[in-house]
Amino acid sequence: MWSAARRHELTLLAAGQPWLPGVLLLGRIARPIRKVPKLGWFVADPLVARQIYNDSTHFSIVSEGAAGHWWAQVIGDWVEDLFEGPGHTELRTTVRDLFTLTHTDALVERVIGPDLRDLRERLAAGETVDIAARAQILVGRSVSDLVGMRPEDIAAAIGGDHTDDLDALFLRLFHHVEELVNLGFGTMASTTLDPVAVARAKELAGQLAVNVPSAYARADPDTTLGRCRELGLDVEHAAGLAILMAVAGTDTLASAMTRMVAIMHDTGQHRALLGAPERLPDAVRETLRVTSPAYLVGRSVTADVNIAGRELRAGEHVKILTWTINNAVGDFSVHRDYVPETRQLWFGGGRHLCLGAQLVHSELTALLAALTAAGTPWQIVERRYRRKVFIPTYETLRIRLAN
Ligand code: HEM
Repeated sequence: MWSAARRHELTLLAAGQPWLPGVLLLGRIARPIRKVPKLGWFVADPLVARQIYNDSTHFSIVSEGAAGHWWAQVIGDWVEDLFEGPGHTELRTTVRDLFTLTHTDALVERVIGPDLRDLRERLAAGETVDIAARAQILVGRSVSDLVGMRPEDIAAAIGGDHTDDLDALFLRLFHHVEELVNLGFGTMASTTLDPVAVARAKELAGQLAVNVPSAYARADPDTTLGRCRELGLDVEHAAGLAILMAVAGTDTLASAMTRMVAIMHDTGQHRALLGAPERLPDAVRETLRVTSPAYLVGRSVTADVNIAGRELRAGEHVKILTWTINNAVGDFSVHRDYVPETRQLWFGGGRHLCLGAQLVHSELTALLAALTAAGTPWQIVERRYRRKVFIPTYETLRIRLAN
């Protein structure tokens, strides 16, 4: 018998993509690794997952079946160097200090601090707030900062009004990125996009990057583009990285934010946290573990290799079932300590470990701090799941503080 929290999560996954709950639940029987006809190898074991992440001799992120291959069609072949080989090592070394804790906390305060204070005040005043929309606006704001777009730049690039309702404008930017992310639909069997999708993806990414060169030149050192410049990254790489970060960190982050609020409510763990506020970092880590918004990570096999006793052949695909692996640990609990076995597999592993991990922690921490500031648990007034999205989430999650 599934708990209410689990039922909501599975319904949410199915609303996004109907096959998702089935694959992620059945994925358990793939442990440690199992071949699925037409799709490739499914991995449901944390140690095997890490072995693959750490083996760039036999596995690639840029060949057919993996994210870098998708990207190369959208941004251009040069992105392969950004993702793999010497270019990737150089990039990761250069931007190693891009997202340190001190920097991410300051970034979050500067970009979404006022919005979060507004949220806190609205809740304290007894208002009902749609957290799903709020998360999209917060992330839209973060994206605009990341790609150096002021409100007037957003309006010029993708339309909308920058003189009146800024929330609507940031929401529009969020949906712009979401459309780009949703072009990932149907990439389960192959990451080769059809020409219409490639053309649309290029158009969307181009609009998103339109301000990067000028913003790069003028950006303050405390912005991401300004830091890229100070760290010595050239403008082309900074632009590629900014778009990559915007796409990697938009739907995933908004999904984690919204589902955190729902899951904590559905498990009663919001009350547990109010009783033990020092466990807030654990609540954030548990949110990422249980939601695992990047539910599946692809790699392609570049040379024959034996993994966990199975023979993987060059050209085959591998799917690491992140959600399945992380959820096998158990239900959400703010009292669960760090799990050494899964570490932070929700952020991948090895040389491609999520670059925005620290930023994600800072954003979720700031949101949860705003929600718990009044010391009162929240209740859910209305919820609707978002349909047909690559990264499943809520369409609406209206909450208010309990009396
Ligand atoms: C909850 C939110 C997020 C989750 C669950 C997540 C998850 C992941 C995962 C699983 C990977 C590895 C992909 C692979 O190996 O193929 C990854 C890579 C990456 N992520 Fe995130 N991510 C999140 C948010 C962000 C944010 C906010 C940013 C930046 C602002 C970001 C930037 C990146 C970048 C640049 C990479 C590629 C790193 C590389 O290839 O070296 N992510 N992310």
